[in-house]
Amino acid sequence: MAEVVIVENSQAAGELVAAEIARLIARRSDAVLGLATGSTPLPVYAALREQLAGTDVSRVRGFALDEYVGLDPAHPESYRSVITREVVEPLGLTPSLVHVPDGAEAGIEHAGAEYDARIHAAGGVDLQLLGIGTDGHIGFNEPGSSFASRTRVKTLTEQTREDNARFFDSLEQVPRHCITQGLGTILEARHLVLLAYGEGKAQAIADAVEGPLSAFMPASAIQLHPHATVVVDEAAASKLKLAGYYRYTFANKPAWQGI
Ligand code: PGA
Repeated sequence: MAEVVIVENSQAAGELVAAEIARLIARRSDAVLGLATGSTPLPVYAALREQLAGTDVSRVRGFALDEYVGLDPAHPESYRSVITREVVEPLGLTPSLVHVPDGAEAGIEHAGAEYDARIHAAGGVDLQLLGIGTDGHIGFNEPGSSFASRTRVKTLTEQTREDNARFFDSLEQVPRHCITQGLGTILEARHLVLLAYGEGKAQAIADAVEGPLSAFMPASAIQLHPHATVVVDEAAASKLKLAGYYRYTFANKPAWQGI
């Protein structure tokens, strides 16, 4: 099963995960990072700014999980813009080495397969950051997504559109379609790191980590992965049955193992 690490707050989560990414980049200067958008990974990116200061990151590569379909890439809420603003620029990554699925409507039917081919050509993702939706989505794999799915176009649920409306002027402006790495694509990354904070994510985390495997709960796919780490604050951990065991395990883990 996934290793669950319960931390005090989102800042501690960010520091823990950033340290793992910094170790990865120290081992492999052209590491392939799987990047996520949304508010969840922001503490990781903030901590990386500190922890990577002085490190040459010019060869680090990145692949974002998803993108809206039909939103101008120059729109401030396109994931291309978000990744540029939150990750590429502050960390000083090389823009041409950081990829985001192409959400342009023209050619969208081929964009998923092309993206998967790019990830494959890069040798796969070393560490994939993941947030989780209140409905259990990872990437934009909404409930019902096949565990074998590849990067493709999906229809966003109304719940997800409402959750993301805070980034737009109105709900009407939130696109209805997205292109997202599939669950099968995500499961090929060598290390999955799923983060969540707050009471609102507690049920989804409990279902993903301790519930049955089900396409209805897409994040439960992480149970199939040999190296998945779930980093949660106390509130997001509040519905986990084995929280005491996870705390005990992590407290007794040799530091050299990382996460
Ligand atoms: P959030 O979204 O990080 O903004 O909470 C997570 C997600 O929808 O995957």
